[in-house]
Amino acid sequence: MRILLISSSYNGLCQRAHVELEALGHDISITLALNPEDIRKGVTFFQPDLIICPFLKEKIPEDVWSKHHCLIIHPGIKGDRGPSSLDWSIINGEQEWGVTLLQAVEEMDAGDIWATETFKMRQAGKASIYRREVTKAAIKAMLSAVKRVESGTYIPEPLNYDKPDVKGKLRPLMKQSERKIDWEKDHVATIIKKINSADSAPGVLDVIDNQEYYLYGAHEESLLQGWQPGAIIAQRNGAICRAAIDGAVWISHLKRKNIVKIPFYKRFLSHDKQFDFKLPAAKVLGSSLSETPESPIDPLYMGNDKTFKEIWYEEHNQVGYLYFNFHNGAMCTTQCRRLLESYRLAVARPTKVLVLMGGSDFWSNGIHLNIIEASENPANESWRNINAIDDVVLAILTTETKLTVSAVWGGCGAGGAMAILAADKVWAREGVIFNPHYKTMGLYGSEYWTYSLPKRVGPVKALELTETPLPIGTKKAKAIGYIDDILTDEYDDFLQQVRHKAEALAMSPQYQYWLDEKQKTRQKDERVKPLAAYRAAELQKMKINFSGKFYGGEVNYHEARYNFVHKVRPKETAAYLAKHMRLDAAKLSELRQPLAY
Ligand code: COA
Repeated sequence: MRILLISSSYNGLCQRAHVELEALGHDISITLALNPEDIRKGVTFFQPDLIICPFLKEKIPEDVWSKHHCLIIHPGIKGDRGPSSLDWSIINGEQEWGVTLLQAVEEMDAGDIWATETFKMRQAGKASIYRREVTKAAIKAMLSAVKRVESGTYIPEPLNYDKPDVKGKLRPLMKQSERKIDWEKDHVATIIKKINSADSAPGVLDVIDNQEYYLYGAHEESLLQGWQPGAIIAQRNGAICRAAIDGAVWISHLKRKNIVKIPFYKRFLSHDKQFDFKLPAAKVLGSSLSETPESPIDPLYMGNDKTFKEIWYEEHNQVGYLYFNFHNGAMCTTQCRRLLESYRLAVARPTKVLVLMGGSDFWSNGIHLNIIEASENPANESWRNINAIDDVVLAILTTETKLTVSAVWGGCGAGGAMAILAADKVWAREGVIFNPHYKTMGLYGSEYWTYSLPKRVGPVKALELTETPLPIGTKKAKAIGYIDDILTDEYDDFLQQVRHKAEALAMSPQYQYWLDEKQKTRQKDERVKPLAAYRAAELQKMKINFSGKFYGGEVNYHEARYNFVHKVRPKETAAYLAKHMRLDAAKLSELRQPLAY
């Protein structure tokens, strides 16, 4: 079928829907719901058999949904309606939630039901549930709805609140007053629930030292305590710990309210160092935390305490597991340096295999664009950051004493999608989406990708992947050799599979042979072209990007980063997504050809 995806942004769910539908042989084009005209243009040029809206905040024009088969993916159970579905499900402590595919009609979320899936709720932030449970259920429901549409015989179920399985209802947009934390009354569990319901957007509005901030990234603390609820009692790696009536809560990120947005072209003229985007809490509060004690954590933390930790380590049966759960997978200079220290300590442990687990939502998304944007000199900070991440990748590439594995549960993009390749083996969860390209950010890229990527997929595919800024799924990734194995989509089963496979490597009679071969290959590769030469060549091009000049693309890095961090909506759907625009351009050029007599 010709399927048009209409989405508010090309977000993770839209990327996954794109990859899954294309893998089934459907012809896919995408239009962002930027304005009604763009939507109409997409429909007119592509003439779809079916329209699917994976993530939609805007209304679809009536002339589109009334004339075309149009399905909306709604993150709620049967009967649930409204713009804050997941927020309400978290605040209300629902045990089970779901995703429903509805026919678009005049009334929001009130159309006939084409498919629905449910899942068990987890205690986590809204964005995390969206990326894991919602995405999995949405893809399953979408694929069955597509089959039902294809059958031509399926009759969708009208929404009927009298039916016992229709348990949802219409709920309004959740207001800040409904999320507000009462530090004098709310227990830790309630505070976490409130912050989770608003994570990653819009955040919970709160007051610290007479200034309003949005709070993000809540983590329970089991040891620290304070007397005055709401007071900041400790800081660690950019996060702040605040006392509650029955314990304490870490808050990793803040965004200041009431900041006037500085346009890109005026940003060097501004002396106001407050930023209107999310940053580590300690960075936002700055010198006001000078008296707040640091609460350090072991670089190879192996404890079980409930606390804020970005890096931790586990060990079983000669296998080490290094977790690095950096917020949004973004890795700033100091995080990379800490990770390098932890990595070296993990390598020094008496194990045979070291598994790099990444984080719960993302394995890594490369350098930290928000921290770079907020720095005094973004070009210099970009340079420091890329060198720090390269140092981590180099340490993995040159680990000779054990086998290394990247176990990819969360997605990864740009530098993160290249960093996974530094390990000897790459195993990924079935639903992972990889974005192994830097083009949208106007970067040539580093992380030794010019060594690792062609080595795995060959030079032609390496060029194809890096030149076309499109995501790939695990099936394609495995077929081209980008990853070695696909693991299950259930978190606990995934961990078990990783453990089982890693232990099998460590116990194998061939272990020593593999280690010897690895060392020989590395030495041979080094003789052909030293890793330092790859890095120098990549960084030379990155220097050009950081200086604000273009290297082999049309995107300016500083402008692209500004737009990404400030969430500036594009003016139009990128040509690599809007296949219908390419078709249209081809048709136009056909029409412009002089007629042959
Ligand atoms: N630095 C800072 N923040 C980052 C980031 C980075 N490198 N990569 C992702 N994020 C943040 C996003 O701003 C977003 O923040 P929010 O949800 O708190 O508002 C969150 O991570 C999720 O990212 P999003 O873009 O919504 O996820 P996605 O699944 O739709 O897309 C990517 C994934 C990887 C395609 C996309 O995040 C991306 O392009 N990231 C930038 C990668 C990059 O260019 N890195 C620098 C070069 S190495």
